[in-house]
Amino acid sequence: MAYNDFRMDSHWLPFTPNRSFRKEPRVFVAADGMHFTTHDGRQVIDGISSLWCVGAGHNRKTINDAIKKQVDTLDYATAFNASNDQAFLAAEKIAAMAPGDLNKVLFCNSGSEAADTSLKVALAYHRSRGEGHRNVFIGRERGYHGVGFGGMSVGGIPANRKVYGTALLPRVDHMRFIHDPANPYIHNEEPVSQEDWLAELETRILPLHDPSNVAAIIVEPVAGSAGWYVPPKGYLKRLREICDKHGILLIFDEVITGFGRMGTNFGADFYGVVPDMLNFAKCVTNGVIPLGGVICRDKLYDAMMKTEAPEHVIEFFHGYTYSGHPVACAAAVATLDTYQKEGLFPRAGEMGKVLGDAFHSTLKGLPNVIGIRSLGLAAAVELASIPRLPGKRAYDIFIDCFKRGALVRPAGDVVVIAPPYIVEKSHIDTLVNTLADSIRRNA
Ligand SMILES: Cc1ncc(COP(=O)(O)O)c(C=O)c1O
Repeated sequence: MAYNDFRMDSHWLPFTPNRSFRKEPRVFVAADGMHFTTHDGRQVIDGISSLWCVGAGHNRKTINDAIKKQVDTLDYATAFNASNDQAFLAAEKIAAMAPGDLNKVLFCNSGSEAADTSLKVALAYHRSRGEGHRNVFIGRERGYHGVGFGGMSVGGIPANRKVYGTALLPRVDHMRFIHDPANPYIHNEEPVSQEDWLAELETRILPLHDPSNVAAIIVEPVAGSAGWYVPPKGYLKRLREICDKHGILLIFDEVITGFGRMGTNFGADFYGVVPDMLNFAKCVTNGVIPLGGVICRDKLYDAMMKTEAPEHVIEFFHGYTYSGHPVACAAAVATLDTYQKEGLFPRAGEMGKVLGDAFHSTLKGLPNVIGIRSLGLAAAVELASIPRLPGKRAYDIFIDCFKRGALVRPAGDVVVIAPPYIVEKSHIDTLVNTLADSIRRNA
């Protein structure tokens, strides 16, 4: 196939070791279904839904057609003081999919913007109720909420924070991480733990700040970017109870767990826990066009609308030029229709079990494998680090798999596979066998 010739002088790649990349570039020029074509004409199987985004597989005609039609109909319209029909249609569809009274959608363009938006809603909501003193946020160690200053502050991946010290939000604390080294193998079900993972929140963190000062607690239902760390059974329910007891808002960052990854609409459905805000981004447009958002419970919107200010005054001073972009929203409507018509969420749940079984039966016992976690349509293998070179083993395995035609995701010394929901067993076998061979080669 023909593709553009390119030079690599100008593009600075995000979250990528650029020096290493330039020696061995990995450049995609086309994609269809489960596969990419690279610039050197190879086929690579997409084992990670291209950063957890492409639930329905690549190059879906219904989504592409909806986008082309929308571009020719209404390309863009101001997002402030007016809106567009597609934004209302997408918001209605998303709210209908969300559990409980999560009914009000604030659009943005990415997961990072969703994180910062949700934190700002929390502050504004409390202030509107006369509790402006609630300004402490609590995240969790190794949580990931994007790269904005808010999301970075509540996030807990050390490398993402290390350089930005004084610029982080001041009133933030972090709960302990949820990984139980005594229980390293999690096979398609919620782990049961004897330990009380939230005791520290109740006995140290909340008393330290005083619960009456805490605005919100933000967590990923499953810690995705850190390497698919699954909470112990009952953890999220208990977290909900603690928040309710103290009037603290609970935010689920569902940028990865949202829209089908767990076999359900959201992680909130999988775990049977309704947060006060639910952040989404990946998978909502099948990755084709950026879109993110925060779904808020009615009570948040209602409180913000109950203001003494005259009606010409904006109630929430926040938004983006491209909030609810008509093309992105048309893509979302078409994507969510596709998921529904093809039953792709239940399919993700079923194929998740196949993926989990393949991980445990093929990878357990291989050199340096110290843990395997599978739940929903994602699985992670944890590897012993090379002494003094953390992350190198998983990175080498990622490179090796890529050379052999499989895209997997390194995260520290964890390797994750999270394929599109259209994945077949034969794809899973290819991915897991390629990974197994690579783990052996990198022993
Ligand atoms: C849970 C979570 N929140 C936020 C983000 C940030 O999203 P974005 O990269 O679209 O800003 C991510 C990205 O991986 C994520 O996994």
